[in-house]
Amino acid sequence: MGIQQRFKDHYKKGYMPWAHKNPDFNLVEMVERWPIKPCKTLEMGCGTGVDATWLASQKFDVTACDVSEIAIQMAKDNLPESVSNCHFHVLDCLNDPIPGAPFEFIFDRGYFHSNRTAKDRKRLAEKIAASLQPKGLWLNISGSFDAPERETGPPRMKAKNIVDAVEDSFKILSINATHFGSDQEDPARAWVCLFRKR
Ligand SMILES: C[S@@+](CC[C@H](N)C(=O)[O-])C[C@H]1O[C@@H](n2cnc3c(N)ncnc32)[C@H](O)[C@@H]1O
Repeated sequence: MGIQQRFKDHYKKGYMPWAHKNPDFNLVEMVERWPIKPCKTLEMGCGTGVDATWLASQKFDVTACDVSEIAIQMAKDNLPESVSNCHFHVLDCLNDPIPGAPFEFIFDRGYFHSNRTAKDRKRLAEKIAASLQPKGLWLNISGSFDAPERETGPPRMKAKNIVDAVEDSFKILSINATHFGSDQEDPARAWVCLFRKR
């Protein structure tokens, strides 16, 4: 079964351990500290839309996509009526055209790392590059190998696997070891990565 169907089934069963009530602090810190200024933005694999909604609240002009109809319906239901600069779409980010492309900034939390083979990750990195304007930024949060194995939890990516997938298309600006911003007591270790399109 492909990852798209796997995630659709997870949402149908209400299984979504990655869902979080507050925006991931890693996103907030990177946007504030780098800084990444409000711009035309895409979130890929946005899930229930918490981070996309936060970006819109910071005046980013946001398009956010997920392959799961259930996730996008939840994201739309959670969007305050007052927010008009956040648009959710059900689509397959890898294979479908993305409305509004190219973007200045792309964010993903846990979508890139869900692609389990080097070939798929490389293909996705190329799609992300193609969806960005020249010199556009991609902020990625992925599960880290520097975490004990768990029965459930995000994929444990080695930094070199991330670098191998992205370095042909992106200049690597930073890769930081952290943990997911999460409602869980013991959040999994993560990499926060900022890349600039070559
Ligand atoms: C680990 S979840 C993370 C969701 C959200 N970013 C979050 O942090 O709460 C990965 C998300 O990617 C979505 N996804 C997987 N493959 C996709 C694809 N080809 N196109 C769009 N979304 C996809 C899944 O439906 C799921 O919502």
